[in-house]
Amino acid sequence: MDLKHALMNLQMVMFGGKGGVGKTSSAASAAIWAAEQGRNTLIISTDPAHSLGDSLGVELLPGETTPIKGIPKLTALEINPGTNMTELHNLTSINPLGESGLSDMGMGGLLEGFGMGDLQELTSMNPPGIDEAFAFGKVLEFIEKEHEYDLIIFDTAPTGHTLRFLGLPETLSSWIGKILKMRLKMGKMLGVLKRMFSREEKDEDNSLELLEKYNNSILNAREDLMNPSKNNFVIVMIPEEMAITETGRFINELIKYDIPNSNIIVNQLYQDQVDLCDFCKARRIMQQKNLDKIKEIFGNKMGKNLIEIPLFKEEVREYNKLKEMGSYMIK
Ligand SMILES: Nc1ncnc2c1ncn2[C@@H]1O[C@H](COP(=O)(O)OP(=O)(O)OP(=O)(O)O)[C@@H](O)[C@H]1O
Ligand SMILES: [Mg+2]
Repeated sequence: MDLKHALMNLQMVMFGGKGGVGKTSSAASAAIWAAEQGRNTLIISTDPAHSLGDSLGVELLPGETTPIKGIPKLTALEINPGTNMTELHNLTSINPLGESGLSDMGMGGLLEGFGMGDLQELTSMNPPGIDEAFAFGKVLEFIEKEHEYDLIIFDTAPTGHTLRFLGLPETLSSWIGKILKMRLKMGKMLGVLKRMFSREEKDEDNSLELLEKYNNSILNAREDLMNPSKNNFVIVMIPEEMAITETGRFINELIKYDIPNSNIIVNQLYQDQVDLCDFCKARRIMQQKNLDKIKEIFGNKMGKNLIEIPLFKEEVREYNKLKEMGSYMIK
């Protein structure tokens, strides 16, 4: 599926690649294009080093969906996964659930109804990448809950971080699976104790049910990410030797995680102009050599759609430039 069709028909389009190659610019350009085609579009940045607001030229508050002025169908959101374990412990020990920063991180809703002890128990189990887990929780909200958006565009973090993120459903699910088992055992024990020591018959604890629900939504989100009629991952790269090797590895990882990928953006290409300086000419020759390789490996052999974007004189940011970049992406 080419990018145009993906943006017109899918529920999710993710943009990823190496640091600094143009992921945010591409994602923002695509989001503007889709919104102006009439699709109600939400662009989410899952990169802890946010630059989506800067790219769009608007101030985005962490965790808050912000309608973009002048583009009626576009909303942007930077989620804030940068909370480490210590901060999390501080949060859970100072603030009661619900009114704490947890809701800012999007987990308020998911963890609603848990007792403080439960949360501490969960966090003290040190799941891998709890910060990403929080980010993922927020993403889940948008994938799995009823929402008004036709399309969600993800501006992801540089490669390694994104791959951990994509592998997170499995990690989280197995982690929650372990807790579920443990809690079932504990629950039985506690039930016996409760009946021995109290006259209360009814067990009000519904955290097991909530965990199960959360686990199911993780698994559903995982299914959606893997579904080619719902999601497509767009790799952004530059025409350099190292980027070719890295893109090859990236494609393999996407295959491993079953994430559909059919488009590759080759960004920052020097154009053939008469007034190119010697330095730029040399770079153009280097880029064209690599572009040929990219066409051969990713185009001919792997059947990916390649999208070529020129290197602009100016920074690509704010509406006009993003629109211009979009015009190269959608042909
Ligand atoms: N085709 C282009 N021509 C000129 N400048 C570009 C082009 N694409 C991106 N840029 C510029 O390169 C810089 C990096 O772009 P961008 O922020 O989109 O990359 P990124 O991959 O999201 O980076 P990060 O890994 O830091 O998130 C920005 O200053 C952007 O304006
Ligand atoms: Mg970026």
